[in-house]
Amino acid sequence: MTARVVTVAQQKGGAGKTTLAAHLAVAWAREGYKVGVVDIDPQASLTKWFAERARVKDAVPIELRCVGGWRVQSEVEKLARTVDLVVVDSPPHAETESKIAVRAADLVLIPAQPSPMDLWATKATIDLARSEKRAALVVLNRMPARGKLAEQMRGKYAELGAPVAEAVLGSRVAFAAALLEGVGISEHAPSSAAAQEMAALAAEIFRRLGPEQ
Ligand SMILES: Nc1ncnc2c1ncn2[C@@H]1O[C@H](COP(=O)(O)OP(=O)(O)O)[C@@H](O)[C@H]1O
Ligand SMILES: [Mg+2]
Repeated sequence: MTARVVTVAQQKGGAGKTTLAAHLAVAWAREGYKVGVVDIDPQASLTKWFAERARVKDAVPIELRCVGGWRVQSEVEKLARTVDLVVVDSPPHAETESKIAVRAADLVLIPAQPSPMDLWATKATIDLARSEKRAALVVLNRMPARGKLAEQMRGKYAELGAPVAEAVLGSRVAFAAALLEGVGISEHAPSSAAAQEMAALAAEIFRRLGPEQ
């Protein structure tokens, strides 16, 4: 059986791709799934987080592959044969590697913040997923808890033509604090609001992935 592949993609830098990839990977690994992460961003932030993680005592095991160029597809396929879930973190553009990563995905996660720049960039990433015939899910990140902006932005994103996850992530320093220590939020502060948000998102993504083929 091969793993489900979730690719985190968004042309805009700083939208939350690496944040999402790392915390989701840990959330799923802690539920008992074998998780592999693939870092195809030359900035290699996920790889740096992973190096930090090697020093964490009792960290739940996760596998990492850091690859670029023509090897992306074969590495994702190879890893997918040995784990239950593969999470791919991609660079902030839509060039060859990102396209390959989108093509390899069962679901493309698109983190997007409540800003016009993120909104405009998201359309391009949804179009990329559509051109590769892949399901996409927009994840609203750094959302204010309530208020008019949150509702307005959800509406604007929904108009782009991809589903918007019900679960949203607030702006929470704990997400960054955890990554700095090489852990996920579910390890760093398991009962925090941030961990609950990430767990709700992880569960929703699983529901949307549907049963294994
Ligand atoms: N929900 C959030 N709350 C607080 N900070 C966040 C959140 N999501 C992302 N960040 C911060 O925003 C910055 C960019 O996030 P990152 O995951 O590196 O984006 P990308 O990988 O898309 O470039 C980082 O400093 C990260 O800690
Ligand atoms: Mg990144």
